[in-house]
Amino acid sequence: MKILVCGGAGFIGSAFIKNYLNNNPKNKIINLDLLTIGSNLKNLKEIEQNKNYQFINDDIKNQKLVDNLAKDVDVIINFAAESHVDRSIANPKPFIETNILGTYSLLEATKKHDNLFIHVSTDEVYGDAENEDSFTEKSLINPSNPYSATKAAADHLVSTYHRTYGIKCITTRCTNNFGPHQFPEKLIPKTIIRAKKDLKIPLYGNGEQIRSWIYVYDHVQAIENLISNGISGQVYNITAWNEIKNKTIVENILELLNKSKDLIEYVNDRPGHDKRYSIDASKIQKEINWKPKYDFKESLKDTVEWYDENYSWWEPLIDEKALHPQPWTLKWK
Ligand SMILES: NC(=O)c1ccc[n+]([C@@H]2O[C@H](COP(=O)([O-])OP(=O)(O)OC[C@H]3O[C@@H](n4cnc5c(N)ncnc54)[C@H](O)[C@@H]3O)[C@@H](O)[C@H]2O)c1
Repeated sequence: MKILVCGGAGFIGSAFIKNYLNNNPKNKIINLDLLTIGSNLKNLKEIEQNKNYQFINDDIKNQKLVDNLAKDVDVIINFAAESHVDRSIANPKPFIETNILGTYSLLEATKKHDNLFIHVSTDEVYGDAENEDSFTEKSLINPSNPYSATKAAADHLVSTYHRTYGIKCITTRCTNNFGPHQFPEKLIPKTIIRAKKDLKIPLYGNGEQIRSWIYVYDHVQAIENLISNGISGQVYNITAWNEIKNKTIVENILELLNKSKDLIEYVNDRPGHDKRYSIDASKIQKEINWKPKYDFKESLKDTVEWYDENYSWWEPLIDEKALHPQPWTLKWK
């Protein structure tokens, strides 16, 4: 089996590659990544010499290249994306380009070469679950910000390529991931890093927003299981059923680092901010024989320890933008 992983130098894609090659040492992976913000080849240090691993630094929108690569692989997995909501509010254009046009380019390649296309999407496409039950795969898509709108557009493209052209595809919609190697601008690493530096921890609005958290290695194992057991044309929600308020996560991290809760500073809320994300993942649990195995509290502790011990990984990545309390107020290219 040979897999083209797109966006494999990012947080989740790199975890997928390491986990997959560890479980399937004879299979091959090509990692196609443009190395934009959020990517880091250091995430893949332990496998960069592996003879079954190859890295290509290029754009998923390079149609000629992806057509060529698709000729020779069985599966294409699309992790490549612009992935930060705050930056999408400041400048949606790169999100439209990569998340929609990039997915289109990969779908065209899949159509020509009959690969299995796994599209890694997000629970954010369902929008706010404040007054709703947990969303299932049958729920309507109702995104609230430019990031989730571009992910939703890509999900629609995938399903129409299945219906119209008969491509083999699977879409996954996962909740918020955390773990080692997550770029410092996201909530958990940002909180850890700012707390370690005794900087105020910004909480948007009243901090009561609810997100459902999953350890990144649970997410990537679910995707691996779907390669062999997923049904083409289907969407699978992925969650570890840990719905927690942002405020509580920040307080937990401060406790783990022995820092005072006085570091918390409430700042203006993110425009269009969803109050709650909540999905039901019964389908993947019943049909695919996957369930999360990592305990939330233990993995959060491990993650805090990882950032504590890997100063050399995150220190070069932090700047005023990555740690900014309200990134949507900045100018982003
Ligand atoms: N982080 C989460 O909590 C979460 C939750 C659910 C779904 N997702 C989805 O999972 C995927 C991966 O997320 P992540 O957190 O690892 O993001 P990330 O930002 O860490 O990684 C994205 C990767 O895509 C690459 N990339 C961007 N544009 C590209 C292009 N045009 N061509 C090739 N490569 C390109 C980047 O260089 C980077 O390595 C995304 O599609 C995201 O929407 C993320």
